[in-house]
Amino acid sequence: MTMYFHLRWTITTMILVFLADAYAPLDPVQFYKKECPRARRIVGDMVLEAIRRDIRLSAALLRLQFHDCFVRGCDASILLDSNSTNLAEKDGAGNVFSVRGYEVIDNIKEALEAVCPQTVSCADIIILASRDAIASIGGPSWSVTSGRFDAIASYAEDNLRFLPPPSANFSLLSQMFAQKGFSEREMVVLSGAHTIGITHCGLIQNRLYNGTCRNNIDPTLDPAYAVELRRQCAFGNVSKPLLLNPTSGGYSFDSSYYTNLLRNRGILESDATLITEASGREFALEAAFSPSTFFSEFASGMEKLSNLEVKNATEGEIRRSCRFTN
Ligand code: HEM
Repeated sequence: MTMYFHLRWTITTMILVFLADAYAPLDPVQFYKKECPRARRIVGDMVLEAIRRDIRLSAALLRLQFHDCFVRGCDASILLDSNSTNLAEKDGAGNVFSVRGYEVIDNIKEALEAVCPQTVSCADIIILASRDAIASIGGPSWSVTSGRFDAIASYAEDNLRFLPPPSANFSLLSQMFAQKGFSEREMVVLSGAHTIGITHCGLIQNRLYNGTCRNNIDPTLDPAYAVELRRQCAFGNVSKPLLLNPTSGGYSFDSSYYTNLLRNRGILESDATLITEASGREFALEAAFSPSTFFSEFASGMEKLSNLEVKNATEGEIRRSCRFTN
């Protein structure tokens, strides 16, 4: 009798487990576990390899995510190529000649298509790659859900509406982040991404040579730093790249960005403006003294950014190539 009940209990449990597995809503973090179990591993390995060869790609991949997600959601619209009738986001203001890393995503997509065709979206690849890139250079990590679908359109004119310009002041930045659901604090936290990567002399020419005070240097810029920047960026030189944050050597993910902001060494106007309001200054002080606060809030901010206006199966598709719609 005991044996009979035991057997019945085991069979019932097995049936319940089977049903739960079959009908449970997809666990977003495990989304590819069945369909493409190697997906996350492949992305991780390929990102590591790309960054091992060229560490600058870490910053490029992080920025790629920001620019993808802020323009109509995390949907890989930034990856679509322009064609004869349409200028796509990648060729629009803020992205053209500036956003990089497209080939890393192309290579990953090609590898994934070979093992599980049309399963892993380009949108998911961007998000996973950005997370893995930052973790690989000593930054924080965060959890990434999967199951985003790819956009079927991309318009260059959207960039101006959604991507904040480097000349933006605190109030414009706050408005642009608020329209995407981010608080002022989250905006200051995410701007900490500028602890790595590069900008170009063209974007700071007006701060170095066109200010309103003595020597035409922007008075909000630390004078000693301005001299150093002038040395790197001659008048009229717009194309030369320079580090956003030289303190960390350019590619070590730490909180020195905020230490520099507090010393008036934020390189872009959009960086410098962050400490002009109490809320920004407060976070900069916290982050400068407690890197772990920066890391944990940056991770939460990135997780939130990764889930911005995500498309579902009726709104998008899983592209075969990240550069073209199917
Ligand atoms: C707050 C508003 C922001 C503005 C106005 C802004 C603007 C810019 C500009 C102008 C550059 C330099 C581009 C160039 O010279 O080619 C840059 C670089 C970069 N931005 Fe931002 N950004 C902002 C926020 C963010 C956020 C939220 C992230 C990521 C979470 C981010 C990540 C990066 C990275 C990693 C780079 C370096 C890219 C590279 O080295 O290729 N930025 N940003």
